[in-house]
Amino acid sequence: MLTELEKYKTTDTTKVTTWFKAAPVSAFPDNGGACVKYKDLQIAIFNFTRRNEWYACQNLCPHKMQMILSRGMIGSTEGEPKVACPFHKKNFSLKTGKNINGDTCDIAVYPVKVEENYVYVGFEE
Ligand code: FES
Repeated sequence: MLTELEKYKTTDTTKVTTWFKAAPVSAFPDNGGACVKYKDLQIAIFNFTRRNEWYACQNLCPHKMQMILSRGMIGSTEGEPKVACPFHKKNFSLKTGKNINGDTCDIAVYPVKVEENYVYVGFEE
């Protein structure tokens, strides 16, 4: 059975059926994240100013099931954008959701677009 997180998950913008209007750009700090709610999901959105890129992923860290990733530290490893959970520093790719440490589950990531100063997250329903 699919979890809620897996149900709407896609990394392919051509498969997006719903662009959820999350919040204005100003709601997201430079090089930081904020959490928004979509249905029952908490989604972490990152304004990765240093890379001039935006990313979205589940807010739930699968290590100890904490709703925390929006407050994680973002950075890059060998060019790969990543978020580090503030609790035990597990690292996840913001492009693929892969756990870079290889010792816990991967996370769901979602496409992001910015239009007219609003941030949208894509879901496949
Ligand atoms: S709860 Fe996130 S790394 Fe442990």
